[in-house]
This record gives sequence, structure tokens and C-alpha cells, in this order.
Amino acid sequence: MNPNDLPIGVFDSGIGGLSVLSAIKTALPNEPLLYLGDTARVPYGSRSPETIVRYTQRVAGHLLKRGVKALVIACNTATTYGYEAVNTRCIELGIPVVGVIQPGAQAASALKSVSTVAVLGTVATVNGGQYTKEIQALNPNIQVIGKACPLLVPLVEEGWLNDHITEQIIVRYLNEIEAKPDAIILGCTHYPLLKHTFERILPKVTIIDSASV
Ligand code: DGL
Repeated sequence: MNPNDLPIGVFDSGIGGLSVLSAIKTALPNEPLLYLGDTARVPYGSRSPETIVRYTQRVAGHLLKRGVKALVIACNTATTYGYEAVNTRCIELGIPVVGVIQPGAQAASALKSVSTVAVLGTVATVNGGQYTKEIQALNPNIQVIGKACPLLVPLVEEGWLNDHITEQIIVRYLNEIEAKPDAIILGCTHYPLLKHTFERILPKVTIIDSASV
């Protein structure tokens, strides 16, 4: 088979990466895409770095074995911990791999008159501090605050997207952020599925959807 005819492999721990898949589909409507959601082991975000690296390598390995011409790690948690290992393997195979953190960090640091950015993500993504490093490397004047929102992934996987309980939980997480952010990064690919709720709660705050930037 001509390698150009192979699909682009896209993966996440669950359904969150579908938000990335849909952005890729809009940008590249004629590209064949192959999606893998590791719903058997979701969530990744509450696991140890070693486990996340192992899961990421396995899922990427599965797609590489199936045959893909490029890989998209459509998961912030897997990008934070597993990108390096997957990239090393992909370099050997001559296959490009992209993660989701750099584009979100670039979008945040390019915003005008923003001094505080809150990054919402899984416990592992927030602890990994990748967004903080990337944003501050681009713009050291931006203060970055991480806020883990561990209940949101199970709620999205459950399909509770337009539910008052989900909304109350989001409000509670946002109220726990000490400073008033000018912008918020949805630093988990599950959260864009709740973007309308964030926008309703925070009409004056810029919401950056790391899945589609
Ligand atoms: N969608 C994944 C992310 O972007 C996280 C979901 C999980 O905890 O497995 O981080």
C-alpha cells in the first residue's frame, strides 16, 4: 500500500479525542482517519506517570502496527508524559507525531492583554506542569495557574454534557481558582465537549479549546 493512502492515527484515553478528530476532519476533509479511544482504561489522568507512559506507548504501538502515516496524541495527559517515548519510536519509523499541549500554550501566550491564565486539566496534566513551562517560555509575564478537575472526565464519558450537576461541579472548580483568570485553557480533550457550559458561566473570559487550536 502507498504510505500516503494510510490513515492518520488519532488516540485518547476515551471519547475526549473525538473533539480533536472533528477539528482534523474539518481541516483535512479528504484524509482517512483512524481513531482509538482506550475506554477500557479511562481515566489516565489519575494514574502514575509510569502507567500513563506505558498506556500511551501501547495504544500508539497498536496504531503503528495497524499502519498510519502520522500520529496525533489527542490527549493532554498522554502528551505530557508519553510524547517523548512515542516520538522516539516514531522517529525510528519516520512517522510524524503531534501532541495537543503546544498549540494550546501558543494560543494562550499570543493573547493580547492577558496576565493570568488558568489551565484546567486532569490531576496528572496539572502536576506535569507542561502548559506552565510552554507558556512561560513564550511569554514569561503570564501567570499560569493549574486547576485539576478530575470529576469532569467521568461526567463526559457518561454523556452528562447538558446536565445541571455537571454545571454545578464546573462552577465549584472555577470558584476554587484563587486568582481571577483572563483566559482559561481547556487542557483536557474531554472538556471541549462542555465548552458551551464554560462559556455560559464565564461570558467575559477567553476560553481556549486545546482540541481545535
Ligand atoms: N482526554 C484526556 C486529556 O486530554 C484525559 C482523560 C483521562 O483522564 O483519561 O488529558
